[in-house]
Amino acid sequence: MEGFHRSLTYINVSYSELVYKNSFVIIMQRQIPRTLAATFSLLLLSLNPANANDLVGNAANGESKIAMCIGCHGIVGYQSSFPEVYKVPMISGQTSKYIVNSLKAYQTGERKHPTMRSVAKGLSEQDMLDIAAYYEKHASSVTLPEQASPAPAKVSELLTKGACNSCHGANYSKPIDPSFPKIAGQSRDYLFVALKSYKSDGNTTWGRSNAIMGGVAKQFSNAELKELANYIGRQPGELQVVPQAKFR
Ligand code: HEC
Ligand code: HEC
Repeated sequence: MEGFHRSLTYINVSYSELVYKNSFVIIMQRQIPRTLAATFSLLLLSLNPANANDLVGNAANGESKIAMCIGCHGIVGYQSSFPEVYKVPMISGQTSKYIVNSLKAYQTGERKHPTMRSVAKGLSEQDMLDIAAYYEKHASSVTLPEQASPAPAKVSELLTKGACNSCHGANYSKPIDPSFPKIAGQSRDYLFVALKSYKSDGNTTWGRSNAIMGGVAKQFSNAELKELANYIGRQPGELQVVPQAKFR
């Protein structure tokens, strides 16, 4: 929590109350830095490892549950063509809590991607925890720099405006909460599609209606989101595709 408080000094969180999944909600009031053009209407943090139930992910069991995933997430360079052509996200090395959260978001419809919705619907809570525990272990062993490389002036402005590193970490691979994603080194075309999807919450077949990232992404034009995606995708990260053959 200490680190979280510190990093929040860079974010403007101006109100309020919200219940996010089964989690506690932290409501914080902070001074508004002038660099932030828009106001984040809320910020919340899940702190709840052990409420709801006490299920725990088992990576070994997870390995037997990914047969359906590897056809897309286990092939280097595999592309999706909806809503445009982009590489499917790398999930090996992602934080397990984020993996579970995103799968739940497809289940509930907060994330509307049709294929992932039908995939996620077939998973139980225990399946999601096991699969997430399994993929989390695949973080590549590169030593990351503490800080991301300096961004060109224009991009640097955008990063400051969006306070991106205050949640995703100074190197974009150390999120301040395990339910937030690592984004450094993620495929650039996917990052761009993901960022755009947070702007689209009124569409029935595509988009993500996430309170936090919606507030962030809507401050930017698509051209700006593309510059952010290109810069973050070039940073060294821990995410990777572990090719299908290695599973066998
Ligand atoms: C037909 C291809 C396909 C299959 C099969 C598939 N996925 Fe996906 N997955 C995708 C695509 C495409 C996305 C990006 C969707 C979007 O834009 O939200 C995605 C997104 C995800 C995400 C969110 C990643 C992020 O960074 O937010 C997770 C987690 C995930 N998939 C896990 C799984 C798991 C676990 C399985 C197997 C049970 C699976 N997927 C099967 C194509 C697939
Ligand atoms: C207040 C905290 C916060 C800030 C500030 C923030 N993010 Fe996020 N970001 C999140 C959370 C939480 C998620 C997961 C949302 C979800 O579940 O879909 C996320 C998701 C993302 C994703 C999707 C990752 C994936 O694998 O699908 C991208 C890309 C992203 N953020 C980029 C950015 C960029 C670029 C900025 C700055 C312009 C930024 N974020 C600022 C908290 C934040």
